[in-house]
Amino acid sequence: MTTHKKLIEVALPLAAINKACAREKSIRHGHPSTLHLWWARRPLAAARAVIFAQMVDDPSAYVDVLRGDPMLRRRAETALKARLKLWDEACILAEEAKGSGLPVPEPGPAPTLDDLLAEQERQRLFRIIEDLVLWENTTNETVLQAARDEIWQSWRRACAENADHPRASELFDRHKLPAFHDPFAGGGALPLEAQRLGLESYASDLNPVAVLINKAMIEIPPKFAGKPPVNPKARAERFLVPRERMGAQGLAEDVRYYGQWMREEAEKHLEHLYPNVTVTSEMVEERPDLRKYAGKSLTVIAWLWARTVLSPNPAFAHVDVPLVSTFMLSTKPGKEAYVEPVIEDDDYRFTAHVGKPANMEASKNGTKLARGAHFGCLMSGTPMASDYIKAEGKAGRLGVRLMAIVAEGERERVFLAPTPEHEATAREVRPGWKPDLTISGSTQYLGVKPYGMDQFSQLFTDRQLLALTTFSELVHEARKQVQHDALLGGLSDDGRSFADGGSGAAAYSDAVALYLAFAVDRVIERHTSIAIWDSSPTKLQLANTFRRQVIPMTWDFAEGNMFCMSSGTWSPSVEWVARSIAFAPTTPAGLSLQCDAASQDVSKDRIVSTDPPYYDNVPYADLSDFFYVWLRHSIRSVFPDLFDTLAVPKAEELVAFAYRHDGKASAQAFFLGGMTQSMRRLSEQAHPAFPITIYYAFKQAESKGDSGIASTGWDTFLAAVIDAGFAITGTWPLRTELTVALKKSSAFLASSIVLVCRKRLADAPTATRREFVTALKAELPRALAHLQRGNIAPVDLAQAAIGPGMAVYTRYAKVLDAEGKAMTVREALALINQTLDESLAEQEGDFDADSRWALLWFEQSGFAEGEYGVAEQLSKSKNTSVQGMVEAGILESKHGKVRLLRPEELPADWDPATDARLTAWEVVHHLIRVLESGGEGAAAELVGKLGAKAEVGRELAYRLYTLCERKKRAAEALAYNGLVQSWPEIVRLAHEGGTPKTEQGALFGETEE
Ligand SMILES: C[S@@+](CC[C@H](N)C(=O)[O-])C[C@H]1O[C@@H](n2cnc3c(N)ncnc32)[C@H](O)[C@@H]1O
Repeated sequence: MTTHKKLIEVALPLAAINKACAREKSIRHGHPSTLHLWWARRPLAAARAVIFAQMVDDPSAYVDVLRGDPMLRRRAETALKARLKLWDEACILAEEAKGSGLPVPEPGPAPTLDDLLAEQERQRLFRIIEDLVLWENTTNETVLQAARDEIWQSWRRACAENADHPRASELFDRHKLPAFHDPFAGGGALPLEAQRLGLESYASDLNPVAVLINKAMIEIPPKFAGKPPVNPKARAERFLVPRERMGAQGLAEDVRYYGQWMREEAEKHLEHLYPNVTVTSEMVEERPDLRKYAGKSLTVIAWLWARTVLSPNPAFAHVDVPLVSTFMLSTKPGKEAYVEPVIEDDDYRFTAHVGKPANMEASKNGTKLARGAHFGCLMSGTPMASDYIKAEGKAGRLGVRLMAIVAEGERERVFLAPTPEHEATAREVRPGWKPDLTISGSTQYLGVKPYGMDQFSQLFTDRQLLALTTFSELVHEARKQVQHDALLGGLSDDGRSFADGGSGAAAYSDAVALYLAFAVDRVIERHTSIAIWDSSPTKLQLANTFRRQVIPMTWDFAEGNMFCMSSGTWSPSVEWVARSIAFAPTTPAGLSLQCDAASQDVSKDRIVSTDPPYYDNVPYADLSDFFYVWLRHSIRSVFPDLFDTLAVPKAEELVAFAYRHDGKASAQAFFLGGMTQSMRRLSEQAHPAFPITIYYAFKQAESKGDSGIASTGWDTFLAAVIDAGFAITGTWPLRTELTVALKKSSAFLASSIVLVCRKRLADAPTATRREFVTALKAELPRALAHLQRGNIAPVDLAQAAIGPGMAVYTRYAKVLDAEGKAMTVREALALINQTLDESLAEQEGDFDADSRWALLWFEQSGFAEGEYGVAEQLSKSKNTSVQGMVEAGILESKHGKVRLLRPEELPADWDPATDARLTAWEVVHHLIRVLESGGEGAAAELVGKLGAKAEVGRELAYRLYTLCERKKRAAEALAYNGLVQSWPEIVRLAHEGGTPKTEQGALFGETEE
């Protein structure tokens, strides 16, 4: 079989992808994440870019075609000429540098025409990706079609080259792209983006909730695309105003219509449970700020409750004292509001006030004494430690007391004291059904369990249970109606459900029922006793239950009114679901299935990109029981097979939880075994012409400072991939939270790494440790230089360089040490990191003596002061002198102390042309000075003056970044990273600054237009 490297095995425009991923986090409208919650979703931008780059050939595969295009060739020849001229010049400079200490790096091998043709073409592909990842282009057919065309071109090339493959008709049909499969599909980002790129898409997951999410995203919209809505209103209008509906808009309209019907029905049953609050004259007397509402009946947004526990103080043992994490209702400046408890005899009542509390700190802390479950008894001040509260909870003695009412005012929230009637209304409710399912999992994630809350039903108030059950059961009614209306609307009466592969009226009603059940889930997620009131200035609303990937214990909570228009209530929830349907691609077909990745056979001859669980990061199955138990109530009859079990299957879930596997060691063994098996299914089945891509997300805690990346999860994961028969051909760090991480100066890790893998050759040789190390030393520096030339951000360099290192390691069937023992992945990683460090240090040889000294000094002292004597001694070893460096303009030496000058202290009128002792150190720090004070335009001007010597700035910036990362110097690291990140733009601007275009372009590794 003829295969070529794919783009993802050579280069990726990481900066553009990362930027788009970070932006996507704040986007909600139309984003599929609004359809249903799933934990740790991958950004669509990353998914789209990775699948595209995995499918298109790297230009080195078709350089002969490029050579045959006269225009491309001419352009490359012009660029080559300029590049060669500069390369010659760089060779001469490098020669001179050996003797004179001039800051010029090694020029590397001479550039060739093929190099330039491929580089130019790569830039063209990068531009496609840069457009593709933008959120605005998610449904831009022109942009998407350009990407699809590119995929088809690579595909036709593969088909032509493999026309005589023994399985050519199955594997290389030039009229049909291979299908896509993600065996750990979760929230569905990858299958969705594959579908958008024109691939028939298969999603599978062990978890039924994930399977349903994928059905809703990739399977249902194509099936009912182009169909008009069936609801009576739309049918009546169909003849009056004929309207063409794009994609699945008809389906979305029906979800809205039947959603509204459900609301009306539910309101009939439940309205009396959600009474308005009337502002009485007594209330106004106590609170003059309420005057404008006197006599008015206000809609309640939420009732705020405090959990209670019997006082441990014998004198008040009969009083349920409140456990309140804060008394603040609003912290909006100028609109503060708070609760004040008033003790009366041997009881208390809550009052609500506007304005700042007299003791803000005390109000903020509620009845809490310390972090965690440590409270004080309101009546006596007696401390109540977590053990006491847990014991009371386990004994079933946790209660609730109404603390405040939040109502809708005139474009404001109105905070009121509780009324006995409102409290009584809530207490009188008796739900008919409850989600009685035991909460499984570790208390680390399921924080409610130690307090006796071990059933999902205990996460809700009775009123919430009754209302949510009403909505859940109305899904059945709505489904019946949809089926009836769909028949009238002309859908076929094939009698087959959606689960049975139908596409007529019955299947359509099943589909609408699924979306409505998802709307119910959205409401459920905000209407629990875990959802707190968010009093922060920009919110003043109910917070989500899953603020993180846990179900935490909460003390005071907000019980929302499901019928008002605040977020998380019924109507907005239906709207979010409907919008995400209208936004979904509707071709080609998609299929979502429930299977265990360790035994699935869906991947056969398919392109695979996947995002497996990360060791012990997220307890998907335990958390998703929260939704499963409700979905089972709403739509069990629609998808009977998926709701076969009482709870989400746990045993086969590939996570390393000690509590599921009798301890850490067996949890790790289970994870390794299962992951290896799952990966083997992929290496055995996936389409042989494409690499597969696998995401791996790091926990920040996995950073191990000096030794680079080392963690149980990462090693175990890599070992599984390699044992499964894969060779690793690339590792790309994808980031979404860099700035935050840097600001916290905590970790410099990517949020995930994409591994690119190919099936290892059956006849892969065995190597000795020495052979492995020799190969690493020979290949890593070149790979490093290649990554740097591609302008990879310094922050990403170490992780991206693991790819080429792992490519060496996995090229061999085994690497054996002197005793014949196979080298572990952990050992290999350590060697790769060590070689990487050495290669970076070797680059130091390219710098002048002053800069080498400055590097050493900087490593020890940064920009802080140090002893003159030490500096002078060090300077000897680097063949320079303190005085010389003061004269060079990089150092200050005063009163026996020495310190490096910060960029902002360097002279603003610096001109490299007149600098008699030009150092690499000055180049990089002047560039930073100018970049920070005058932006990229000013830096470009300086680059123009520096000419060939500017490149050393980038190289030194990489080195300095690595050093700062190791020393946890976040602010400086940001500056060096920033310089490299801005490099392409600076160079582009330098072009425009009058320096001859071709020369400049070739000079800085850019290709001209
Ligand atoms: C990291 S998540 C995938 C997230 C997804 N890429 C997204 O963007 O939402 C990993 C998924 O693997 C699933 N999973 C765990 N064990 C599995 C198994 N044995 N077979 C199939 N899926 C499994 C989990 O249910 C979870 O949905």
